[in-house]
Amino acid sequence: MLDIKIERTKAPKALPDKDDPLLFGKIFTDHMFVMDYKLGEGWYDPRIIPYQPLSLEPSAMVFHYGQEMFEGLKAYKARDGRILLFRPDMNAKRTNRTCERLCMPEIPEEDFVQAIKELVGIDKTWIPTKEGTSLYIRPFIIATSPFLGVRASHTYKFIIILSPVGAYYPEGLNPVKIWIEDEYVRAVKGGIGEAKAGGNYVASLRAQVKANEEGYSQVLWLDGIYRKYIEEVGAMNIFFKIGGRVVTPMLNGSILPGVTRDSVIKLCKDWGIEVEERIISIDEVYEAYKNGILEEVFGTGTAAVISPVGHLRWKDEVMQVNDGGIGDLSQKLYDKLTGIQLGEVTDVHNWTIEVE
Ligand code: COI
Repeated sequence: MLDIKIERTKAPKALPDKDDPLLFGKIFTDHMFVMDYKLGEGWYDPRIIPYQPLSLEPSAMVFHYGQEMFEGLKAYKARDGRILLFRPDMNAKRTNRTCERLCMPEIPEEDFVQAIKELVGIDKTWIPTKEGTSLYIRPFIIATSPFLGVRASHTYKFIIILSPVGAYYPEGLNPVKIWIEDEYVRAVKGGIGEAKAGGNYVASLRAQVKANEEGYSQVLWLDGIYRKYIEEVGAMNIFFKIGGRVVTPMLNGSILPGVTRDSVIKLCKDWGIEVEERIISIDEVYEAYKNGILEEVFGTGTAAVISPVGHLRWKDEVMQVNDGGIGDLSQKLYDKLTGIQLGEVTDVHNWTIEVE
């Protein structure tokens, strides 16, 4: 159990207006959590302090070799006033898998969850309540040793910041347009694709710019060797409904193991729909489209929740899915997930955890 020191802000910021659309990740709350690490000593000095800039040496290793990881989860205010976190234990476990891969120190799962609970409790007035909004929680760890040699840092900071957010995409639940990338790749097996590392996201930017210029909001990545097998979208995992069957790429070492992905697979199972986690090629998707059995495509992610895909562009082909509308399964999954997250439907899996 962490003994977290608390220093409250003397200058609380104005809360966003009730009608503010809360564009994703632009506004930050009054406080942040910080904890330091030193090789030989472990994690020390857990504290909640006013949200403020960091002071780091320009030689801090994170600036040079990108030794950094992050997580994303959300807190919700239920109608009965309870504050709920959605599966924070999954983020704690994934943090430690990422840390292992990036040679960073792990954090005990219970400390990770405790730090989030205490910070969210202190800034609870910032949790927005309008439909489709939540408090996005961004834990991250950075390498801080002032050193230019390539090795793992000896010191780190674990920080958590909070941001009241609306939908990740301006489209909201309306279908997004996705560009299937066959020139650049995001990750290969044996690399860091399954880690929640900032490096995976910088690797995605060039193709993202290309997709944006063509009027598409996100990139769907193909595998790094054959440029043929579907991997994931930059900020989401991806699901296809083909001829009544639900298919998603299996976790193969280069795909992020999403918490929403896992939840969707379990919800489908509850409803008697078996999700096929397997290799799926772009040719199979295109074939299904040509045969009129590509019924739904949707992305899953913490930030995006469920994001229906209305258009897929692959080379010169444009596949319009479900007439560009929201599919029944996508809508049902969105309603169920957000219902659980907001404490409005029975949480049979005990996914939500209350912040006292
Ligand atoms: C999330 O969904 O929380 C993510 O971490 C994706 C992020 C790049 C917005």
